Amino acid sequence: MVDAAGPKDHLWKVALDAEERIEDLVKVASSPIGVDVGTSKLVVAKKGPREVETSGALNAFLPVPYSRFTEATLGQNNIAYYRDEGDLIIYGTAAERFANMFNAEARRPMADGMVNPREKLAMPVLEAILQTIVPKARAQGEILAFSVPAAEGPGGENREAALTYHKASLQQYFRGLGYEPRPINEGLAVIFSELEDYNFTGIGISCGGGMCNVAMAHLSVPSMMFGLPKAGDYIDTAVGAVINEHATRVKVMKEENLDLLRPPSDKFQRALHIYYDDLVQSLIEVLAHKLTKADKRTERPVPLILAGGTAKPRGFKELFERTLKTRPLPIPIAEVRVARDPLTATARGAMINAMYER
Ligand SMILES: Nc1ncnc2c1ncn2[C@@H]1O[C@H](COP(=O)(O)OP(=O)(O)OP(=O)(O)O)[C@@H](O)[C@H]1O
Ligand SMILES: [Mg+2]
Repeated sequence: MVDAAGPKDHLWKVALDAEERIEDLVKVASSPIGVDVGTSKLVVAKKGPREVETSGALNAFLPVPYSRFTEATLGQNNIAYYRDEGDLIIYGTAAERFANMFNAEARRPMADGMVNPREKLAMPVLEAILQTIVPKARAQGEILAFSVPAAEGPGGENREAALTYHKASLQQYFRGLGYEPRPINEGLAVIFSELEDYNFTGIGISCGGGMCNVAMAHLSVPSMMFGLPKAGDYIDTAVGAVINEHATRVKVMKEENLDLLRPPSDKFQRALHIYYDDLVQSLIEVLAHKLTKADKRTERPVPLILAGGTAKPRGFKELFERTLKTRPLPIPIAEVRVARDPLTATARGAMINAMYER
């Protein structure tokens, strides 16, 4: 017996699938983009057909002397590089591996959350790395939100002038790709990414490479933003000095091994624990001081989110909560939570910001 409804059902299904695919394509074609321009890592977040897609590259480089042979070998091994007079500039993720192998220090286009004015290759390298992860705008004027650190330092010092230069350099680059670029504070981006369930009210902290960036917001409106130039890079340099190793190598070993819940078993682990303690103490001290000074009050307890690569090791939340008990904040905290994906939270938050800025 022939099922009369069969072919019709099939056609309906084909039509519905096609409609869904077109909807997906439209969504993706007009999808905004978020970029975390970090001292240690660059991360891009954009809406894919089903979920948010992220990609990243290390914000580092290493010049090696030019030779035709080296250039050919790099090319054959798909290592990102460009030629700069007598040097080949290896950039992105490979730079760290090379530095590690040569027992050298990788160089960075950025320091303390901003383009490093003392590094002459800063902008060319930063642009080369960005080029590998940020595509050209699909339509002229598409919104791209990118993270920037706070202008205010821990002692209230003003980095406004340096921040203006940093923002303008990046805006110029992103405009060249066809985007309408919007800077967003990094701590606020963390709030946008992680605190929808609290109506974007609470404290967002990104513990990155060069900086810890802190923002407090009420219903998405920031009421306090500051930065602390002490984060992963500080830990790497300080531990490196104790165990007589390059910071670049400490960084790699730290990312592979650190578990703050396990008691340290050697000198390296002990040093890592000591400087992690030191970092969290400084962070909470400055936060408590800022909240007291600004006389911040809240109607109800607020959540506190920890994001950034430095918040990634197991036990970071427990360390933070333990330290908070010895130095309570002047406002009640509802809960301390680590971001779902600490390394991409800022980029995801920037993307959410871009979606609403359209
Ligand atoms: N698994 C891990 N364990 C410990 N530390 C890690 C881990 N993964 C990354 N990190 C550290 O996190 C830091 C980088 O974090 P992140 O990418 O959030 O910083 P960034 O955004 O580039 O820097 P910033 O926000 O300061 O400009 C580095 O110090 C890195 O060593
Ligand atoms: Mg960051």
